[in-house]
Amino acid sequence: MQNTPTKKTTLKVVILGDSGVGKTSLLNRYSTGTFTGQYKATIGADFLTKQVVVTDWTGQRHVVQLQLWDTAGQERFQSLGVAFYRGADAAMLVYDITDPSSFDHLEHWRTEFLQQIGVSIPALQEVPFPFVVIGNKNDKQNERLIPAQRAEEWCLRVGGNRPLYRVETSAKTALNVDEAFEELARLALQYG
Ligand code: GTP
Ligand code: MG
Repeated sequence: MQNTPTKKTTLKVVILGDSGVGKTSLLNRYSTGTFTGQYKATIGADFLTKQVVVTDWTGQRHVVQLQLWDTAGQERFQSLGVAFYRGADAAMLVYDITDPSSFDHLEHWRTEFLQQIGVSIPALQEVPFPFVVIGNKNDKQNERLIPAQRAEEWCLRVGGNRPLYRVETSAKTALNVDEAFEELARLALQYG
């Protein structure tokens, strides 16, 4: 079989969600394979890069340089963050399965983000932008307050004809963390 050359691409990804849902922890797990139980608020926004190899829907291999932007969930640090939304190719919407308000705020994060990057929110049948929805802290099953079903329904509703991809992760145990970022890269390539 003939080898098709691998394409090189850089993708900008923004991680959004309430303070404390685990955005920084997911990035740390993904980039360095580490986890700490200590909380240190992110101020403004910061980015790191990671290279992944992704095969797209046509079978084409891509070497993707992911530029991952960690943003602040705390309101007082958010205004610094929005400037970094520009040029994003994909976004991750993170909630905590034990924190209902973090789930309720996903709609706010999504619309605010789209507004900032200048994408108008179209009819429900159209999907304006590649989002991946992450239910984090899956290791805390006995404290779960958001059933998977409820989150699925939201992804179906806002996704219109193409439900938003959703997965539950744990930055603590590493469950589905690599998978989530790979899916995000794959989706961004598809939209791009
Ligand atoms: P801001 O920077 O304020 O927006 O918060 P953040 O979303 O970056 O949250 P962060 O990653 O700092 O995590 C908040 C707290 O949740 C920390 O104490 C983490 O240790 C903890 N945490 C993050 N992910 C997980 C997880 O998957 N499981 C468990 N049990 N704890 C987690
Ligand atoms: Mg953070």
